[in-house]
Amino acid sequence: MWWNRVALRRLQRTGVEVAVAGIQREMSSLPRVYVTRKVPPDGLQILRKSGQVQLELWDSDDPVPRRELLKKVKGCDGLLCVLTEKIDAEVLDAAGPTLKVLSTMSVGFDHLSLDELKKRSAADVYTRIRVGYTPEVLTDAVAELTVALLLATSRRLIEAAHEAKTGGWGTWRTQWLCGYELANSTVGILGLGRIGVAIAERLKPFKVKRFIYTDVEPRPELAEMIQAEYVSMDDLARQSDFLAACCALTPETQSICNKNLFSNMKKTSIFINTSRGGVVNQEDLYEALATGEIAGAGLDVTTPEPLPTNHPLFTLKNCVILPHIASASYTTRNAMSALAANNLLAGLRGDRMLKELHL
Ligand SMILES: NC(=O)c1ccc[n+]([C@@H]2O[C@H](COP(=O)([O-])OP(=O)(O)OC[C@H]3O[C@@H](n4cnc5c(N)ncnc54)[C@H](O)[C@@H]3O)[C@@H](O)[C@H]2O)c1
Repeated sequence: MWWNRVALRRLQRTGVEVAVAGIQREMSSLPRVYVTRKVPPDGLQILRKSGQVQLELWDSDDPVPRRELLKKVKGCDGLLCVLTEKIDAEVLDAAGPTLKVLSTMSVGFDHLSLDELKKRSAADVYTRIRVGYTPEVLTDAVAELTVALLLATSRRLIEAAHEAKTGGWGTWRTQWLCGYELANSTVGILGLGRIGVAIAERLKPFKVKRFIYTDVEPRPELAEMIQAEYVSMDDLARQSDFLAACCALTPETQSICNKNLFSNMKKTSIFINTSRGGVVNQEDLYEALATGEIAGAGLDVTTPEPLPTNHPLFTLKNCVILPHIASASYTTRNAMSALAANNLLAGLRGDRMLKELHL
């Protein structure tokens, strides 16, 4: 199979890899996969060692340019993407009818046009595209970061560290840099899913008095795990000392955290968002923070991302903004890439995926 070796070398020079243990197999018979980002090593290794796919990778930590993506997906059988790639009709059309599996290295799937994917599945069983995603493996890391962000915001850690470093630290003063504590508080969770529960479990030892939540409907099994009480959205706003947005971004949750919510919240309350920037109306949040309608906000996610450095929210001392790092631990990112790779391979084989999004 000398010609296979020659072809392999040529393909490798052009950024195409053939993920085969040997190179005896007919390359043309292997499904073609495009990976839109240099994902963490575990995922790439799984794809490379599988011997099941011809792999092409956007070998960079920066997003693949849209034009390049549209060019590269053409004729692919599988696509592994991250949340910065909007997978819409244009991408699906560019890929064409060969595309059978889409695997995203994220639990959030608001970057995938579900309507388009459903439409294709409904039209013809042969155009069905199966979708894999990465729930659970990131829950611990995201919950942990949410607690860190909540404490950093409520106990004013960023402000305090800045004061210490820049000479603002005078004598010990009775009211200086005071914040709000979790002990005896009411914590409200908007969207009691995996991450919402994991956050509450971590907050419980801080002697939180009461957990309340709202969701599309009561979720008794999850609520029982943390003794949380189902309330209306208005009551969540009125009663929470800390309110954490943990819901998925959908058309229904777009800007759900708006003037109406903030104006119902206590002046002493802290708002935290580690879900998606789109669930917050940022103009309304700015107003609420600037006018003292609420005490503070901690955001891991914004619209857009990155948030421009001259954005008004950056001018506020009572707003802590992180650059979307909730799942950013080495262990978790590796686990996400491994799960995304395994989902992709299973889908291409026609097997059950470890985590499949049922459209
Ligand atoms: N900041 C990050 O890096 C990061 C990392 C992981 C996940 N996330 C976000 O966190 C979200 C939650 O993840 P999860 O694993 O807990 O998902 P999940 O599906 O277990 O939980 C989402 C919850 O939101 C609820 N929800 C949906 N629509 C709602 C509505 N209209 N009103 C109230 N609740 C509603 C769902 O019913 C569900 O209980 C993801 O969708 C993702 O966007 C962010």
